[in-house]
Amino acid sequence: MRIGIIGAGKIGSTLARHFAGIGHEVAVANSRGPETLEDLAAGIHGLVEAATAQDAARFGELVVVTIPYGHIGDLPDAVLRDKVVIDTCNYYPERDGRDGELDDGSTTSSEKVRAATGGNVVKAFNAMYWENLRDRARPAGDPERLAIPISGDDEEAKAVVAGLIRDIGFDPVDAGHLGGGGRKHQPGSDVYTAELSAEQLSERLRRI
Ligand SMILES: NC(=O)c1ccc[n+]([C@@H]2O[C@H](COP(=O)([O-])OP(=O)(O)OC[C@H]3O[C@@H](n4cnc5c(N)ncnc54)[C@H](OP(=O)(O)O)[C@@H]3O)[C@@H](O)[C@H]2O)c1
Repeated sequence: MRIGIIGAGKIGSTLARHFAGIGHEVAVANSRGPETLEDLAAGIHGLVEAATAQDAARFGELVVVTIPYGHIGDLPDAVLRDKVVIDTCNYYPERDGRDGELDDGSTTSSEKVRAATGGNVVKAFNAMYWENLRDRARPAGDPERLAIPISGDDEEAKAVVAGLIRDIGFDPVDAGHLGGGGRKHQPGSDVYTAELSAEQLSERLRRI
């Protein structure tokens, strides 16, 4: 699959490595331009190219948005419209600035990513600390394999994302719809950054 990744920091570069490592073609972008990403791209084994955000979005059959939440207004919305978009972003007011609608709970950051992009958004990879995502992939059935919660409103899109998660060495667990399900794995929730097996994560999500 061709995968665009907007954001080349801790999560973006880790996902670029994982996806390229299992044979996907990846285009990765940051805010400063592709020339600042040549070393990253060259250092990853596999098909990884440095791109602008616009080109990464155009390149991807699926596009990962993994930038500070406060910057989602910069995303290339026209190109992301109707694509499967993985949103890893978390809202941290001290970093991102205050968002009244998130503070009063009337909506969620992933629903705002959907509104900003028009994409078919699946919330994933937001609740795992990046070093665990980098280091703790395990084969299916391994007792140490960690689970990753996902949420979204389109079953097909969720199935694609779940498959990617399995293929890179983690177990996806469906938390439900983008709004209600997404709230269950956003910062401050009982599963956020918890290191859990699929069974443990499912059980904890049921109790939220
Ligand atoms: N770190 C974690 O453990 C973790 C875990 C789960 C989820 N998250 C969430 O996932 C997102 C990414 O986290 P991170 O830790 O990977 O962040 P990070 O290391 O700070 O990297 C952020 C990346 O986003 C890029 N960026 C910023 N604004 C952009 C824009 N307008 N267009 C394109 N690229 C832009 C930055 O590019 P420049 O450097 O060129 O500005 C940088 O490559 C955040 O929302 C974070 O809260 C983080």
